[in-house]
Amino acid sequence: MTRLLTWHDEWSLNIDALDAEHRGLIEHLADICHRFGPEATSRRSGDALALIGALTDLGEAVREHFKREEELMQTVGYEDIAEHRTEHALLMAEYTDQLRHWRAEGIDVFDEEAQESVRDWILDHILGADREFARFFHAIEDQVTSARDRHDVAARLNAARRYP
Ligand SMILES: [Fe+2]
Repeated sequence: MTRLLTWHDEWSLNIDALDAEHRGLIEHLADICHRFGPEATSRRSGDALALIGALTDLGEAVREHFKREEELMQTVGYEDIAEHRTEHALLMAEYTDQLRHWRAEGIDVFDEEAQESVRDWILDHILGADREFARFFHAIEDQVTSARDRHDVAARLNAARRYP
């Protein structure tokens, strides 16, 4: 299994609901690596359908996560939500394309290269665009602390805390 495939605390955005989901996605991917990686080959050889099925499920889990993340962004009035949504859509298109490619070649071992490509696909987004959102999120948290009469911000934050 690829060495980095455990959750690292420095990947955290300090937004509990999102961190829990991101962690869940990394664990989901680690489970696929464990079940279909090269070290599992003797048991799983010829299981191309099962591997594609597992990767398809992971893609669906990511899609659902993106949806909930966008709902949170909407709730707190994130100014760059359109751009972020576009990035989510592009990531899903990229993944669909990759799945099509793997299905066509009949992938039946989730080798190190494939593991890394999916890990980077998730992580680059968490460490890039999601961090930008986290900066916005924490900035409006600060507004609440420094201006207690900002009921609109407080209301948005309270709504966000109910998430998911
Ligand atoms: Fe995101």
